[in-house]
Amino acid sequence: MAAPSSSPQTLIESFARAGQGQVFAFWERLAPDARARLIAEAAEIDLAEIARLNATLLTSGSSAAADLTGLAPAPFEPRPENGGDPAAWAAARAAGEAALRAGRVAAFTVAGGQGTRLGYDGPKGTFSVTPVRGKSLFQVFAEKILAAGRRFGPVPRWFIMTSHANHEATEKFFATHQCFGLDPARVHFFRQGRMPAVGLDGKILLEAPAAMALSPDGHGGSLRALDRSGALDLMAEDGADTLSYFQVDNPLVRCLDAEFIGWHLLRGSEMSSKMVAKSGPEEKVGHFCTLNGQTVVIEYSEPAMQTKSAEREPSGALRYRAGSIALHMLDREFVRRMARDGTGLPFHRADKKIPCLDAAGKLVKPEKPNGVKFEQFVFDALPFAKNPVVIETPRADDFSPVKNADGSDSPATCRADQLRQFARWLHATGVTIPTDATGLPPFPIEISPLFATDEATFVESWRTLSPKPKIEPGLCLG
Ligand code: UD1
Repeated sequence: MAAPSSSPQTLIESFARAGQGQVFAFWERLAPDARARLIAEAAEIDLAEIARLNATLLTSGSSAAADLTGLAPAPFEPRPENGGDPAAWAAARAAGEAALRAGRVAAFTVAGGQGTRLGYDGPKGTFSVTPVRGKSLFQVFAEKILAAGRRFGPVPRWFIMTSHANHEATEKFFATHQCFGLDPARVHFFRQGRMPAVGLDGKILLEAPAAMALSPDGHGGSLRALDRSGALDLMAEDGADTLSYFQVDNPLVRCLDAEFIGWHLLRGSEMSSKMVAKSGPEEKVGHFCTLNGQTVVIEYSEPAMQTKSAEREPSGALRYRAGSIALHMLDREFVRRMARDGTGLPFHRADKKIPCLDAAGKLVKPEKPNGVKFEQFVFDALPFAKNPVVIETPRADDFSPVKNADGSDSPATCRADQLRQFARWLHATGVTIPTDATGLPPFPIEISPLFATDEATFVESWRTLSPKPKIEPGLCLG
């Protein structure tokens, strides 16, 4: 990145020297405020990084497949009901609860994505998901964080990474809803970084005479953004050393799961992850694997994974069944190290149709991919982490994302999964509620995270409830 004190002239010259002089092609006709905007954008760009990406990713071609020779499924810790050691899980829970009591854990949501597949205009976290009250994703997470605070002592800080496009709308949403009961001084928003899109010739594209075509740098950019924003320093001041990372699209997530925290801490891990058994070879999740002795996630879209993801063991189980649901525990100082190591996370290339100006300054909307966006993925930090551990989690209690407008991973499937969970918790108390063969009740009910965050806390809260409510359509607890 150029030094903040660089004069406009110095910046313009450094772009010209880097072969990116076209960024200032319309400089002469820009008004002073437009010039200032373009200079501010230019100062964000790390020209050496762009040159490196052009030299590596651009020359390799869009369909270059990764070398996956020697790839094997990653080991993981199975849950006790699947053969795991109950004592180890109990020890993990106790260690995680102690860490929550000691205020060592902060929550972290990556919410900079654009929600394009869902076809929703606002920040995705403002999307309404619960079956009766229609609470937003953000409200569900806020109540889970508040519930952890009520149970264990200090309410964890919550860091939320936004993008330039949705930052203000996200902050406004929280302000309008009084932070859903959380102390606003402990809820922190920061923007993720941006990367310029380049044409297939490596030249940075302009979307307007005074604006480069910039886009979010991927959720892997969260490591740099956590450092840059001061989030890591705030944690250090509090004595918090662990970040619980989750995506904005998944209301079932256990945001502050004591067992997960405990496995991470007891193993001295710098980055831990949760897996679910894949529902089938085609499920669109990353795969936990080992490659050259390191833990890695290989995306579902990786060409070499297409055949491997269908391989089966003699028992019939999928060989690569450890699906990544994008839940991680991160050690604070590991994040700082990754953020400051310029050679850390790799970038991935995504070929896109990018509206941009032609040489005459006319906006062109391309019919086919005309350029490349660069993104980092947070799971690429795994090979750099000491003692990474992958633990199993029950899908029904941790994962039902809202990604698509309909079909799989849609608002409808997510609503049904929430209802099944509520029905299971009621059944666990001995209450009868009708369900179909998949465990889905025929009418909507809702249990607030402030009433219970899992089956055990539900059974506890239900026991003390007097009088007991009637089980009927629209029942809301908490
Ligand atoms: C992601 C994972 C996949 C995992 C699946 C589980 C990738 C490449 N793949 O897929 O391995 O199995 O989730 O649900 O991530 N985000 C940002 N900034 C960005 C881009 C994304 O904050 O620049 C956030 C989004 O807001 C969202 C999350 O990252 O919370 C995931 O992004 P998305 O693009 O939806 O990932 P998927 O392709 O669904």
